[in-house]
Amino acid sequence: MPKLDGKVAIVTGAGRGIGREHALALAEAGATVVVNDLGATLAGEGADATPAQQVVSEIEAAGGTAVANGDDVADFAGAERMVKQALETYGRLDILVNNAGITRDRMLVNMSEEEWDSVLAVHLKGHFAPTRHAAAYWREQSKAGDEVRGRVINTSSPSGVFGNVGQTNYGAAKAGIAGFTIIAAQELARYGVTVNCLAPNARTRMTEASFGEIPKPDEGFDAMDPANIAPIVVALCADEAQDITGQCFFIYGGAVNILRPWDAGGLFAQDDKWDADELLAQLRERFPGGVAPEGMVAQMGKAGGQSLQVG
Ligand SMILES: NC(=O)c1ccc[n+]([C@@H]2O[C@H](COP(=O)([O-])OP(=O)(O)OC[C@H]3O[C@@H](n4cnc5c(N)ncnc54)[C@H](O)[C@@H]3O)[C@@H](O)[C@H]2O)c1
Repeated sequence: MPKLDGKVAIVTGAGRGIGREHALALAEAGATVVVNDLGATLAGEGADATPAQQVVSEIEAAGGTAVANGDDVADFAGAERMVKQALETYGRLDILVNNAGITRDRMLVNMSEEEWDSVLAVHLKGHFAPTRHAAAYWREQSKAGDEVRGRVINTSSPSGVFGNVGQTNYGAAKAGIAGFTIIAAQELARYGVTVNCLAPNARTRMTEASFGEIPKPDEGFDAMDPANIAPIVVALCADEAQDITGQCFFIYGGAVNILRPWDAGGLFAQDDKWDADELLAQLRERFPGGVAPEGMVAQMGKAGGQSLQVG
């Protein structure tokens, strides 16, 4: 395992599920961890300090160092407090894992404004706000002449990159996070900060709410164990990964798929403005049988190199 001794990490939404495993793995690799979690319900309601505190206790029991933070990542001032807590408690910040999330699934035709706004806030603003404050600190360090090896690891989703029915709010936020990753990677490279994102798959309360109970295998490798996502986080935090940035990694069990971002596709061009009739003819020629997104499960199967049984 790469040695992360002396590094300080913030993991948001680290009281449960995938984030908890990130926090435990980073601590095991030697990092000191700020365990952020609002302790909200899956829909983002309420607050409870217990989950974050439990993970801190687990890290301490294993000989590591950690502190709990209960700020809401979607609150700009709260995110600033969280970054300040890392700096004031441990004197530095090296790693920010943006992981906190909620779901409020609903078909588009029935989705309320509140369902849209709350999901966009926790995911999209909840990535922007902590990254913004951490990046300001790293820029200051870089300008002062310190060598910065900053890491931001964001959390997108197969729903965002492949598209999942019933999740226009969540999927749009997660696609936004993938786009945010590319631009932040371009902007922060000059300060020595890499920015990557994950599209994970794991058995947590979130997936069980969307897909139903996901049984554990009686024996052998448990591909849906949330602990399977943590090794890529630890790897990206290693000093040796200083030049790997702007990537989105799909993870399912032991499968890691480096997703292709939006890139230039099928070109048809002329040196004049298109006539809509001619364009329609071009489209019909290229898509004689029509065209539509393939759907998340089919794409996940391809990305994981196997057929995926969810639910
Ligand atoms: N489980 C999967 O298969 C899967 C797939 C794709 C993406 N994801 C993403 O992975 C991340 C972790 O999800 P999970 O499956 O572990 O879910 P989870 O519900 O087990 O954990 C999410 C944690 O985030 C916390 N949280 C919610 N809102 C918060 C806020 N405003 N501020 C701080 N903390 C907050 C919750 O209290 C909870 O402990 C999420 O971003 C999720 O969208 C998960």
